[in-house]
Amino acid sequence: MAGMLDGKSALVTGAGSGIGRATALAFAREGAWVAVADLTLDAAQRTLGAVEAAGGQGVAIACDVTDDAAVAAMVAAAVNAFGGLDCAFNNAGIAPYQVNATGVATADIEEAAWLRILDVNLNGVWRCLRHEVAQMRKQGGGAIVNTASVGGLVGLRGSSAYAVSKHAVLGLTKTAAIDHAADNIRVNAVCPGYIETPMTEESMRRAGERILGRVPMGRLGQPGEIAEAVVWMCSDRASFVTGAGWTVDGGYTAV
Ligand SMILES: NC(=O)c1ccc[n+]([C@@H]2O[C@H](COP(=O)([O-])OP(=O)(O)OC[C@H]3O[C@@H](n4cnc5c(N)ncnc54)[C@H](O)[C@@H]3O)[C@@H](O)[C@H]2O)c1
Repeated sequence: MAGMLDGKSALVTGAGSGIGRATALAFAREGAWVAVADLTLDAAQRTLGAVEAAGGQGVAIACDVTDDAAVAAMVAAAVNAFGGLDCAFNNAGIAPYQVNATGVATADIEEAAWLRILDVNLNGVWRCLRHEVAQMRKQGGGAIVNTASVGGLVGLRGSSAYAVSKHAVLGLTKTAAIDHAADNIRVNAVCPGYIETPMTEESMRRAGERILGRVPMGRLGQPGEIAEAVVWMCSDRASFVTGAGWTVDGGYTAV
């Protein structure tokens, strides 16, 4: 049976863990070659090992999305390996606990923590997008998906910088979709609800009952449930979909 991404090449950032790892595996399952990128080569190689064990093919790349030269080199490495870049999933991100800002109210966040979250979650997506668009323009088109969040749609108590970064990712997605439609590049976002990954371990320990109480489906999502939406938005089946944010949240924002 034909895969949804047969013969295409794809890049995933934050692919060493959670949603990025599951999406790299789903891309490969659907027939794409996958450039698996993460902060450390070790993390990227572990996911590439899983891709290869499942019969897929790809390359592992170390890249910090806060470093523009590293992002340029990451896109160049993917293009060198596959001869082009058809799909990109800009997914690397951090949560407040990673900058010691768990539960800190908006007015009390340290400036360094605020700037760090925005630099990874927003500027990192923009850096990736601009290098990907440069390549996709040369080859005549492509599809990009950015990871936003339900925190890009509603406020999140004690997670101000995170929610701001994800709202901004949606603004970036919509505007890039408008700007680059004429380049035959589609740009969309996925808005995950609470998903079972290392990122949510700490919030679940702290407030698991309250969080699940707000999810109509009463459970965390699985990383693979986000990957399915990303694969579809990157595929030709989504040929008229651009500038969209697809919420996959078990009903969290329907309440
Ligand atoms: N898990 C959730 O509930 C949830 C909900 C909504 C949105 N998201 C978003 O999904 C994305 C993936 O999150 P996850 O839950 O899989 O988390 P995760 O912590 O399991 O994975 C995030 C990955 O991003 C990488 N990363 C962090 N900083 C980086 C940097 N500067 N450069 C390159 N890579 C970097 C990490 O090394 C890690 O492998 C994030 O953007 C996150 O904000 C997650």
